Amino acid sequence: MTTPGHKPNAAEPAPLDPVALLKGIVSLRRLTGMYPPGHPAIEHKLSEVDESVQRHLRDAPALRLDVIHGIAHVDGVEFRHDSDTQTQILRELTDLGVDSIHFRPGVSRQELLALSECLWQVKEDGSLAAQLAARNVDHVSLGRLIALDTRWRTAQWPEAPTGPLDPAYEESLALTERTFEDVSRGKGVDLATVRDVVQLLIRKIAGSSVALSQILAVKLYENLTYCHSVNVAALSLLIARQLQFDDDTIGAIAEAALLHDIGKTRIPLDVLKKPGALDKRERALMEAHTTYGAEILVEVDGVGPLTPTVALEHHRSLEGSGYPDIGRGVVPHLMSQLVSVADIYEAITGARSYQDPAMPEQACLILARLAGTKLNTALVKAFVNAISFFPIGSVVRTDRDELGVVVRTTAGDPLHPIIALVGDGYRSTPGEIDTSLRDPSGAYLRHVLETLRPLEGMDVNVFLAGA
Ligand SMILES: [Fe+2]
Ligand SMILES: [Fe+2]
Repeated sequence: MTTPGHKPNAAEPAPLDPVALLKGIVSLRRLTGMYPPGHPAIEHKLSEVDESVQRHLRDAPALRLDVIHGIAHVDGVEFRHDSDTQTQILRELTDLGVDSIHFRPGVSRQELLALSECLWQVKEDGSLAAQLAARNVDHVSLGRLIALDTRWRTAQWPEAPTGPLDPAYEESLALTERTFEDVSRGKGVDLATVRDVVQLLIRKIAGSSVALSQILAVKLYENLTYCHSVNVAALSLLIARQLQFDDDTIGAIAEAALLHDIGKTRIPLDVLKKPGALDKRERALMEAHTTYGAEILVEVDGVGPLTPTVALEHHRSLEGSGYPDIGRGVVPHLMSQLVSVADIYEAITGARSYQDPAMPEQACLILARLAGTKLNTALVKAFVNAISFFPIGSVVRTDRDELGVVVRTTAGDPLHPIIALVGDGYRSTPGEIDTSLRDPSGAYLRHVLETLRPLEGMDVNVFLAGA
């Protein structure tokens, strides 16, 4: 099979058919689930997959298979081959939460086998990256590791939050956007504006349930760097307050969080917004936003002493891995660790052109899974206690099939918030319910089952106004 419009001649080997290869991987996955290790059916399929991967890698620096908007791409080039089989195979992979499989030279048969075994187990445990790492698979990487639903195919997200925003939040977004644009045009960081935003965050946003709901609940927009930065600063502030840090430290944390990704102003937009996994060169460029950020910030007079440190370290983990490489085992500063927690939550609850946002409770579970290895457990706990699994503004459903908007969280019980029931027409509430109430035997009267996307025609602010 060939790429349409391209005829191979005798001297040129046929180009790789990504659908056939993905089909091979999907079959191999099923076979490893069905048969014991070493079964001839597995070995046969493994040889087939191995051969086509190695053939491609003989004269290419890498093999990148991406499924973007339901279409297979090889090394960034679209492969159109309209058939139901293609759709089914691609869907099977994306349903597993895998949109991209990248192979690097040196990938072994053993790694391919481990990959298919990990893909088989994905339904029970979604942490594919960790499973691959645990099995020493380091020549294969998978994109979109969080199993999300697949409605993303039709999603077109606006570029910024829509609808009536909290005025202080709206102003912070505008000021931060301008500051970041100036930096991307080569101007210095305007520290006075940064300080204004920090003050808005501390004095207004952190205390406004409307603003917090717009930051914490699921975000149905493409989260550009300036929005992400304001959100991460607000979330970092919530952790700092939960831990009862003093005012000076809280101010320093808000500033560092607001500027943690300032280095992205030096990354080309097409890389920043690329739908799908990045190749090696693009990844290296993207990772450089940490060092760029530190470089930009050390030049700014009056910036907090730890602000450049946080920019440098926020993608490093507690166990000393991550990027940039500043020495194995170098543990990031506590302030960087704190911003990392907010950063990860913010990133996974935000939409991308190729990815639905994760609901807050899913994001909290992901943080919990990372606690102790990648993230500081105490900071994750403080974060989850501060925002709760069902943050203010979330639309939720209870096990009694009630629909409500979270209007307050319950201290010490992040799973049982107070909700305003959603009335007919989604415009008013017949009353509030405290989901933390228990019966005389101590059992909860109800549980919140799940977060829903805000419903068509529903303005969450209406429910928060009286809260
Ligand atoms: Fe970052
Ligand atoms: Fe970030």
